[in-house]
Amino acid sequence: MASSGLKFDQIGYWSQLKLDIVKDYATAYSIILAKQPRIRHVYIDAFAGAGVHQLKSTGELIPGSPLNALAVVPPFKELHLVDLDGTKVENLRQLTAGRNDVHIYQGDSNEVLLRDVFPSVRYEHYKRGLCLLDPYGLTLNWEVIAAAAATKTIEIFLNFPIMDMNRNALWSNPAGVAADDRRRMTAFWGDESWQKVVYREQGTLFGADDLVKAGGNADVVKAFRERLRTVAGFAEVPEPIPMRNSKNATVYYLFFASHNKNAAKIARYLLRKYATYGVP
Ligand SMILES: C[S@@+](CC[C@H](N)C(=O)[O-])C[C@H]1O[C@@H](n2cnc3c(N)ncnc32)[C@H](O)[C@@H]1O
Repeated sequence: MASSGLKFDQIGYWSQLKLDIVKDYATAYSIILAKQPRIRHVYIDAFAGAGVHQLKSTGELIPGSPLNALAVVPPFKELHLVDLDGTKVENLRQLTAGRNDVHIYQGDSNEVLLRDVFPSVRYEHYKRGLCLLDPYGLTLNWEVIAAAAATKTIEIFLNFPIMDMNRNALWSNPAGVAADDRRRMTAFWGDESWQKVVYREQGTLFGADDLVKAGGNADVVKAFRERLRTVAGFAEVPEPIPMRNSKNATVYYLFFASHNKNAAKIARYLLRKYATYGVP
């Protein structure tokens, strides 16, 4: 039953793959951490959605990432679900009614995580967290990624929205990009160094330098992976996988980042396994 006014998100095959990868990882994570008696492991869904989606291909309703996490056995000790959209949040409240392990927030994750969620996942309190950062596009700020890394307790799956980047910010002619799209790109990346990854200067007949696009998806993704390690400070960042639509275009890359070697080993295995599933 959906809350009134809610239209379910229509999702494609690539979103199903993401849901499966995160579900499989969350199960492995929960099995391992539940064996450690003092540890309280939590799940954080920063762009949680309504909890249910509709498959584009068949119209079937399927559980979204928060419902998958709620079904994990052994269960997470706490679940924190955030969404900006009031109708989706209301649906999440209905779906999780009576569960006092679930904390729901309506608001901008860029604020809610930093203010209300991450500070409670403290190492000295034996807390550990798995956080899904799954925005539609360039609506996540680098500060959130850096803050997750700084806790040393939180590991992330991250949707790196290359299609939004290419469509709106990483144009062949950078002069044509709207100021707000450049700002969104910089906010996600954390500084303006993405420009050096994507463009190089080329002399013109008249002596002046023009910026020309020299970096493609692979360069952008490689540089961001390096930032997750060296700037955010995650010890382990397996190679991300491209999530492709039915036209074989990459919609986003799915990253995983952690401080834990074994966690990365499991994530790397799952990412590689699902990467071979390809496009139907
Ligand atoms: C890709 S969907 C999430 C899908 C969900 N993770 C799943 O796999 O079932 C992105 C969600 O982010 C929400 N959203 C957009 N901007 C947001 C923000 N700044 N803070 C929190 N949620 C946001 C949207 O309302 C939408 O429900």
